Amino acid sequence: MNTLVTQADDKSAVQPSYSKILELTPHTGWAAEFWQSLTPLKDQVANHPFFQDIADGKMTHEGFKYALLNLYPLVGHFPSYMALNLAKAIRFEQPGVLEARNWLIRNIKTEERHLFWYRDWAEGFGVPISALNHVTPPPAMNAVNHFLWNINTYGTLAEGIAATNLAIEWATGDWTIKVFKGMQAYANKAGMTIDTRTLAWLRAHAQYDDEHPHEAMELVKRLCDHDPVQQEKARHAAEQGLGYYHLAIDHCYGAI
Ligand SMILES: [Fe+2]
Repeated sequence: MNTLVTQADDKSAVQPSYSKILELTPHTGWAAEFWQSLTPLKDQVANHPFFQDIADGKMTHEGFKYALLNLYPLVGHFPSYMALNLAKAIRFEQPGVLEARNWLIRNIKTEERHLFWYRDWAEGFGVPISALNHVTPPPAMNAVNHFLWNINTYGTLAEGIAATNLAIEWATGDWTIKVFKGMQAYANKAGMTIDTRTLAWLRAHAQYDDEHPHEAMELVKRLCDHDPVQQEKARHAAEQGLGYYHLAIDHCYGAI
């Protein structure tokens, strides 16, 4: 048999080592405590009555429009937050840094499509792109953005991943599951188009994106192992990320 053909058929022979998937390990010791301490805060966001109302088919058209408009910067800027953090991933001799670099690059690339899927949802629900492009969310909904700009600029690599990819993507992966299931309730309502285009963003986050928080936790473990000070800083960053996310959703719920 031709050796060249054999090698080309064997994917492991041609795939460079950087494409290896990040292997998840069980949470033990400090990592288990870290994860457990954040779970109730994540649940507060994911189980917020705002998301429950949407899942139960009770959200008004105005409520959807307000939320889609004012949450747009969080979605639209998400890869930029990661890019700020990626700029710090340069000390390849340190544990976890090379894996964090590779993972952030892949995640940023994925987010390229998510912006457009979110815009399709917003447009299908009556929010024009011109409005999205010019939105300044109310302070309580924009605080999460200011926090993420700040922590990804001035925090450590682990703090940025904890605040952004662990905290925000974790809660988002959870609430999108129940919201996605409830969206058919709006199929015949005025001003709301339900189809594969308008549901693409929700579907993505309810399905494959939910691996991201687990991968983010794995990176935090590798970056902070054996360093209790860094572990606590990363935990605090995730706690703050969830706190600001909760503040945004609380405000949104109160305003509609
Ligand atoms: Fe996304």
